[in-house]
Amino acid sequence: MHNTAAIVFRDGITRFVKVDNDELLMDAARRHGVNLPVDCREGVCATCRCLRESGEVEVEYIDEEALTEEEIAKGHVLACQTRLRSTHASFYFDVDSSICSVATELHDGIVSAVEPVSDGAAILEITLDDPARALPYLPGQYARIEVPGTNEWRAYSFATAAVREGKLRFLIRLLPSGVMSDYLRDRARVGDAISLEGPLGAFYLREVQRPLLMVAGGTGLSAFLGMLEELVEKGECTQPIRLCYGVTQEQDLSELDRLAAFAEALPDFVFEPIVMNASAAWQGKRGVVCDLFDRDFLSQPFDAYLCGPPPMIEASRQWLEEREVGEHRLFFEKFVSS
Ligand code: FES
Repeated sequence: MHNTAAIVFRDGITRFVKVDNDELLMDAARRHGVNLPVDCREGVCATCRCLRESGEVEVEYIDEEALTEEEIAKGHVLACQTRLRSTHASFYFDVDSSICSVATELHDGIVSAVEPVSDGAAILEITLDDPARALPYLPGQYARIEVPGTNEWRAYSFATAAVREGKLRFLIRLLPSGVMSDYLRDRARVGDAISLEGPLGAFYLREVQRPLLMVAGGTGLSAFLGMLEELVEKGECTQPIRLCYGVTQEQDLSELDRLAAFAEALPDFVFEPIVMNASAAWQGKRGVVCDLFDRDFLSQPFDAYLCGPPPMIEASRQWLEEREVGEHRLFFEKFVSS
């Protein structure tokens, strides 16, 4: 019997390791070729400290010199003293993966579908060549994909909670001109060989213990599609979730049916789109994502997840900083479409 631990490094590189029931996290990682920083191995020096971000654990010993009460209350643990007590758990190590001898993983596959989902975006579906070689990831993370026929790589968030039957999906913005956009619009054929590297990124869904604010700009929605799918599949989330979804023109709105299905399936999930440069025919809200922020909702403690272009992230952070909102954690992923 074993459980699975996601080990996330400061540079966003993530490894998944199987941990036997009585095995220490540190030993399981080493068995998988991940050499976590360790020194005393006795719970004293705190060299192996990390933050438990989800899952249940049993911690054998923590010396009072190693972690403060406050740090323990926030979820800090010591990898040399920690055993898993749930099927899945994730841990954040505030060190770069390179010091733990972790290499990035390459996967090969084929293009199995390209589906336009709006005027300005498409879903790219990739089927991995070797379904037995799993590509586990945390919803919200991304992969780098090599544009077929080029040596160019581009980064995209996973749009599903996990690999299903060897398939992965990504929501990708179609620019008037761009190396991936040109490929998807003009040359992509089912069966094209395609490579990807991942998972990457420290933007992923932590254990949901309080209300969530999700803020998506354009195809930043992709990360939230994966997160919401996971919450539906787990069926445990009772916290309220508000998704503010901003686009430039209404033709850019994507996957609204899927969002509506999430709203049906989750106990308290509300999403609202807003369009910056809407046509006269647009019946919904006009403006930027911050115009959707609900002060009543944000007066309670919450976690905020932001994914989209840098100006949107900065405007949202500034809005939250300048208002009297509840205590919150902020996670964000900035991306520039290219
Ligand atoms: Fe010293 Fe874990 S290695 S506390």
